[in-house]
Amino acid sequence: MDAKTATNTNGSITVGNKNWDFPVYKGTIGPDVLDIAKLYGESGMFTYDPGFTSTASCESKITYIDGDEGILLYRGYPIEQLAEHGDFLETCYLLLYGELPTPSQKADFDYRVTRHTMVHEQMSRFFQGFRRDAHPMAVMTGSIGALSAFYHDSTDIADPTQRMIASLRMIAKVPTLAAMAYKYSVGQPFVYPKNDLDYASNFLRMCYAVPTEEYKPNPVLARAMDRIFILHADHEQNASTSTVRLAGSSGANPFACIAAGCACLWGPAHGGANEAALNMLAEIGTVDRIPEFVRRAKDKNDSYRLMGFGHRVYKNYDPRAKIMQKTCHEVLAELGIKDDPLLDVAMELEKIALHDEYFIEKKLYPNIDFYSGITLKAMGFPTTMFTVLFAVARTVGWIAQWKEMIEDPKQKIGRPRQLYTGATQRDYTPISRRK
Ligand code: SDX
Repeated sequence: MDAKTATNTNGSITVGNKNWDFPVYKGTIGPDVLDIAKLYGESGMFTYDPGFTSTASCESKITYIDGDEGILLYRGYPIEQLAEHGDFLETCYLLLYGELPTPSQKADFDYRVTRHTMVHEQMSRFFQGFRRDAHPMAVMTGSIGALSAFYHDSTDIADPTQRMIASLRMIAKVPTLAAMAYKYSVGQPFVYPKNDLDYASNFLRMCYAVPTEEYKPNPVLARAMDRIFILHADHEQNASTSTVRLAGSSGANPFACIAAGCACLWGPAHGGANEAALNMLAEIGTVDRIPEFVRRAKDKNDSYRLMGFGHRVYKNYDPRAKIMQKTCHEVLAELGIKDDPLLDVAMELEKIALHDEYFIEKKLYPNIDFYSGITLKAMGFPTTMFTVLFAVARTVGWIAQWKEMIEDPKQKIGRPRQLYTGATQRDYTPISRRK
């Protein structure tokens, strides 16, 4: 794993009249890092970086983001090229193995994933336990974690064969669970996967087919779904990926780690933003109400934020948002949706925000969640399913990052420290003496 190169310069930290030197490492691209692993042992001090804005938690070869330039690379390949020329399972292979597959490798990978798409028949009983109006992300978090109760032959993380089988099972079964969560929420029977369909078409059919008639996936919508999966597949050390890595560092089984990532993704500041962004556009309703919401987003005393805008890393346009906007127009055109009022509000909101000095100064641009909601709504998904679709796509990224961590001989359990500002030591007072 160790591909970082020690630079011949040392970094140093000086506190008062004390000074400590630490090695500086250079990656292939991106910022150098100061290795402060020995800081506490040598100085008795911790670094303090809530939200990890300046902290590299690991070394990785999977995804690179240049937030200032709006660049996203999966194993070195620009997201624009992968979304344009490849398909989602090719991206899965690339993220897992590090190289684009040859034709025979691609055919074999597709075959292996396709033949893991069914879930254990008893999984369907889990769904009966949920209320029909349960949020699908609650169902997904529960059912992905439950996979570890069925596949005991792929939970030994020390065995590379079991790791790969667990990886294939999750890439293959998460869409099936997602479609089951949707069908359960609308009171329709579950639809089994079909091996003669590609990944995205299979997923759309499991969501929208009914026993009473043949379902023929729309190729334009299937291509759009596949591209949406590619755009959401991985994104460096984001909150949910960091959750998966931390869970995995304790040796937890892969299904439990991915369930932890799914729970984290649900938050509206992260993967829940696509649902929140569409709800925001609906709340704004009409173009003339945009200024009121932009004012609130700029008001320091108002915690309101424009959902779908801003990003911890991108201080330029999220490259995925541009592709998402193009896909949005393709889907609306294919479905003959001419004047979607939400799209009108989104386009006008984007125009206003990109010319507003607050958003320019704080480098707030639309992110991937800004246009995905409009697209997914047009495709027939309820807003509560938007983050589920994000989880379907991100499962491969979580797994690739988990696998990289497990296979790193230097990995150890993650255990951050703290700045303690609580009570100093004091003695217990019996309740009889408390006033
Ligand atoms: C995803 O990490 C990833 O890679 C995530 C993701 C992935 O693929 O995994 O890309 C997916 O989660 C995309 C982001 C989706 N979330 C949203 O769209 C929710 C709305 N966005 C914000 O909540 C916010 O922008 C975050 C959470 C995304 C980032 O939060 P940060 O790191 O606090 O943002 P920042 O430090 O860059 O903010 C700079 C300033 C702050 O003001 P000051 O404290 O400096 O005065 O801009 C403000 C923020 O308050 N700001 C916003 C804003 N986002 C940031 N103000 C109004 N509206 C917003 N949307």
